[in-house]
Amino acid sequence: MTEFTMDDLMFRPGLMKGQRILITGGGTGLGKVMAEACLMLGADVYIWGRRGNVIEDAAKELMDAHGGKCVGMACDIRVPEAIHDAMDEIWSGGALTGLVNNAAGNFISRTEDLSPRGFDAIANIVFRGSFFVTLDAGKRWLAEGKPASVVSILTTWVWHGGPFTVPSAMSKAGLNVMTQSLAVEWGNRGVRFNAIAPGPFPTEGMSARLNPGGSGRPEGPADPMIPLGRNGEMRELANLAVYLLHPLSAYVNGQTIAIDGGSHLAGGGGFARLASWGDKEWEEARNAIRATNEKDRAQRTV
Ligand code: HXC
Ligand code: NAP
Repeated sequence: MTEFTMDDLMFRPGLMKGQRILITGGGTGLGKVMAEACLMLGADVYIWGRRGNVIEDAAKELMDAHGGKCVGMACDIRVPEAIHDAMDEIWSGGALTGLVNNAAGNFISRTEDLSPRGFDAIANIVFRGSFFVTLDAGKRWLAEGKPASVVSILTTWVWHGGPFTVPSAMSKAGLNVMTQSLAVEWGNRGVRFNAIAPGPFPTEGMSARLNPGGSGRPEGPADPMIPLGRNGEMRELANLAVYLLHPLSAYVNGQTIAIDGGSHLAGGGGFARLASWGDKEWEEARNAIRATNEKDRAQRTV
């Protein structure tokens, strides 16, 4: 299902014409709605994910609804060689003008229950994978002297920590520092870096792993700690992403912008409340999350 009509976007038709945007994890959730907004505004859009059917169906669905060019590519960002090959394919039609580091893995867990492989399962996607994608595109932009905008999708945990989601919080914090560092290092060559820290925007991927069995963070009624009293709307996030990707926001560099209804300022946005869970609740959560992981893994084509 697609999300938007032009009434959901705050920009003029054709705004993104000539832009070439790669969105990792663009076949589902937040990545898909950012892809939709860019496509509707005239950009050529490339979306990556490991489940070939999911990514191809998403590209087709978006083009059927809005026209334009959206290319779904099966690519695992944990594999630098796969990134390089997929990037070669994109670059054969011209340089990207923008990259959205959106792909991620996450699940709630007591940190003492994590194995090294459990930590790696998240850090290899979020921390290492996002850097590998950025590096591969970055080298090409610098070599060709081409300007570009990189937007990384983080969380507000980069400022206040993420109890029960420690590998994710650590990895996103690393990307926050990447954003600040490369904004300075590559800014004078036209490649700028910003980030978005969303509050809760309920998606299937997020709910299954952070709210397994409906027990963690409620998807229905919003967290009472959110000052605006509601979850985020997809169009709110998509408009912010388009702004940061467009050349007219060029003087914004090195910033991480929260879009969370003010939640992190009011002490919300994390899972501290799960401290009240005992062994039984954690076992149920773990089983539910693993069932989702297995289902998704069975669909992977790379
Ligand atoms: C403890 C767990 C676990 C759990 C998995 N593991 N689930 N440990 N509690 N609930 C451990 C496994 O036991 C195993 O370690 C290791 O992790 C690897 O598990 P696999 O299932 O083999 O991993 P893999 O197939 O690589 O899958 C990666 C994944 C999966 C990250 C675990 O969830 C995934 O692919 N996710 C992609 C989509 C996603 O997560 N989207 C949510 C984004 S939402 P052992 O040692 O046992 O072998 C988000 C929101 C943030 O980020 C902000 C909200 C406000
Ligand atoms: P989602 O639908 O599960 O999105 C994650 C996407 O990443 C999936 O499409 C997944 O597809 C892809 N992916 C995972 N590992 C990959 C890999 N190794 N290579 C390529 N693609 C990979 O969850 P979401 O809620 O939309 O989350 C999107 C982003 O927003 C994430 O960065 C998340 O941390 C962030 N975020 C979300 C929220 C929220 O409330 N939803 C809040 C704060 C931040 P495959 O499994 O097919 O590869």
